[in-house]
Amino acid sequence: MNDMSIVERAVDQKDIKISAKDVQVYYGDKHAIKDVNVEILDKTVTAFIGPSGCGKSTFLRCINRMNDTIDIARIEGRIELDGEDIYDRRVDPVQLRAKVGMVFQKPNPFPKSIFDNVAYGPRIHGLARTRAELDEIVEKSLRGAALWNEVKDRLHEPGTGLSGGQQQRLCIARAVATQPEVLLMDEPCSALDPIATSQVEELIDQLRSDYSVVIVTHSMQQAARVSQKTAFFHLGNLVEYGNTDEIFTRPRDPRTESYISGRIG
Ligand SMILES: Nc1ncnc2c1ncn2[C@@H]1O[C@H](COP(=O)(O)OP(=O)(O)OP(=O)(O)O)[C@@H](O)[C@H]1O
Ligand SMILES: [Mg+2]
Repeated sequence: MNDMSIVERAVDQKDIKISAKDVQVYYGDKHAIKDVNVEILDKTVTAFIGPSGCGKSTFLRCINRMNDTIDIARIEGRIELDGEDIYDRRVDPVQLRAKVGMVFQKPNPFPKSIFDNVAYGPRIHGLARTRAELDEIVEKSLRGAALWNEVKDRLHEPGTGLSGGQQQRLCIARAVATQPEVLLMDEPCSALDPIATSQVEELIDQLRSDYSVVIVTHSMQQAARVSQKTAFFHLGNLVEYGNTDEIFTRPRDPRTESYISGRIG
């Protein structure tokens, strides 16, 4: 191999951000995630697709240890972030979740003002030195989440007083405000209208230049628009993982083919 091809490979190959090895998740006796192995890349949007109940949210929650908060959930295997085991006893889940942010399937704003919802993370992690810096982070995050224009005159009203779609965008602003390295998004657009959806998709595309983004979606069109990699889950198995354009045009597994053509789901 000559020097040039080494340079080309280095440019072409993105770093592995998250690596999952032989991951199993059980809820009591129910085996919800079965032996999942996957490498999720940095500076890439990865879509998780598959029928309802196949384990997308469960696997997503493994990546920032949100399953720790579910009593009956039990996880086996190994998940690494930048090569470090995130389930190691020395890892503080709160610190981990600042690096691996999450937007949930249902909007869950804190019972605080719109401003304080977004400022909460930057405050506890000391990201702003002055009030002006904090104001700037809050504005930038709300603009990124396509919410600024609707809330700029009511920043000190409660976040819970917003509409469902606005609350979801507030949660997206809250998640990006701490500048996480990885952003996990569980159906972030399911409560949004088409305009807000396209604004959030634009934000996801921007985030890709700095972060690793994983998005769960039921919309094939959305997966095709925003992601470079796609993982198809079925009955707790990761059936197929690859480049999004290949998954959608030349799926290798008949189950993937059936799902993307609308025969199972
Ligand atoms: N807290 C829980 N307790 C018990 N079982 C659970 C829990 N959460 C999920 N499950 C079960 O685990 C399986 C996977 O659920 P999960 O929510 O991960 O699916 P999903 O792919 O995200 O589905 P959807 O597209 O409907 O959101 C399902 O059978 C579900 O009933
Ligand atoms: Mg789900």
